[in-house]
Amino acid sequence: MNFTLSEEHQMIRDMARDFAETELKPGVIDRDKNEYFPRELLQRMGELGLLGMMVDPAYNGGGMDTLSYVLAMEEISKWDASAGVIMSVNNSLVCWGLQTFGTEEQKQKYLTRLATGEIIGAFCLSEPEAGSDATRQKTTAIDMGDHYRLNGTKNWITNANIASVYLVMAQTDEEKGHKGINCLIVEREMEGFELGPKEDKMGIRGSDTHSLNFNDVKVPKENRIGEDGFGFKFAMKTLNGGRIGIAAQALGIAAGALERALEYSHIRKAFGTEIKNHQAIQFKLADMATEVDAARLLTLKAAFEKDNGLDYGTSAAMAKLYASQAAMKCASEAIQVHGGNGYVREYHVERMLRDAKITEIYEGTSEIQRIVIARNLTR
Ligand code: CAA
Repeated sequence: MNFTLSEEHQMIRDMARDFAETELKPGVIDRDKNEYFPRELLQRMGELGLLGMMVDPAYNGGGMDTLSYVLAMEEISKWDASAGVIMSVNNSLVCWGLQTFGTEEQKQKYLTRLATGEIIGAFCLSEPEAGSDATRQKTTAIDMGDHYRLNGTKNWITNANIASVYLVMAQTDEEKGHKGINCLIVEREMEGFELGPKEDKMGIRGSDTHSLNFNDVKVPKENRIGEDGFGFKFAMKTLNGGRIGIAAQALGIAAGALERALEYSHIRKAFGTEIKNHQAIQFKLADMATEVDAARLLTLKAAFEKDNGLDYGTSAAMAKLYASQAAMKCASEAIQVHGGNGYVREYHVERMLRDAKITEIYEGTSEIQRIVIARNLTR
């Protein structure tokens, strides 16, 4: 077993770290406060290859492995977890899903542009009454011969307003249950597509989240991903990889919180010395560092399994479960180390606690991760 990163992996990590420190950090407080993510930053992420990292170069991607993606996600999320989720959805849920299960025509038409960030994608599974219980899709895709007629509402859609392409899960044949669900590629310009209200969120406020309405949208048959009825399996298989991305995002928040707390402990003085010299602070830093390392090892293991063709569903769920808890603990402890300063925006750590919470909810709550792990253990 070798825990050393290759030179190439170190370069990717350093590139992402440099971008995060020089280009994401400066405006992150304002973006969180005023809820926006500028096009110029998205464009820069595309230029750096951060939006289609694992896509085959034949489709304009970076041709990198999951390990590279995880290393970059951690660095980006250390400073800006909103940038992290924008990147994660485009890479793991949209690009990976299309590359793995899409037709050649779908890849040429959509993936080639998604991989460069020329256009952004969104993944639409959740509904007002289908969150954790994702088989209960109320959105319908009625088979009309050469096209599907799509109707329904999707909720909490990350990238909703910056996206041009949407992977939408919808029920075609209710009698078949989850085997009657299809995934359709929907374009924003299609008639009947409607952007719903923006969510006023607790965290990841730089990333935009809306509901979406589909009113008799005519989606051509060639926009279905996979065989008829493959949509639910598509969503589950894609989410297995997505959970590695969210684990890396949570890891980034945890590691960022540790970095901020460490920095502060060298500057802040109390009782005649820097607070790093007090055991009360040292114990916190030691616990945080242990959490970060454990979360990182689980996340890297899941990435390794995916890169080596192993079954990674359980490790992905474990990594997300553990890393999201580590993010919550580390962000909370980082605030404690900062004292009163930790409770104001300027010191970044209060944002990290707000951002951390969503990692215990999206791409499957912590309870769903436990269900996935337990089912795989006991079957
Ligand atoms: N990988 C591969 N296949 C899977 C799978 C997985 N992780 N989980 C389920 N499946 C397959 C099963 O094998 C089964 O197939 P067969 O019928 O052929 O045997 C089929 O899917 C149905 O599975 P279940 O019978 O287990 O379905 P269930 O209803 O009992 O439970 C669940 C499934 C695990 C609870 C699932 O509904 C789930 O994961 N829910 C959480 C949904 C989720 O993560 N939503 C996130 C939204 S996306 C998002 O957050 C993106 C964002 O904005 C950041």
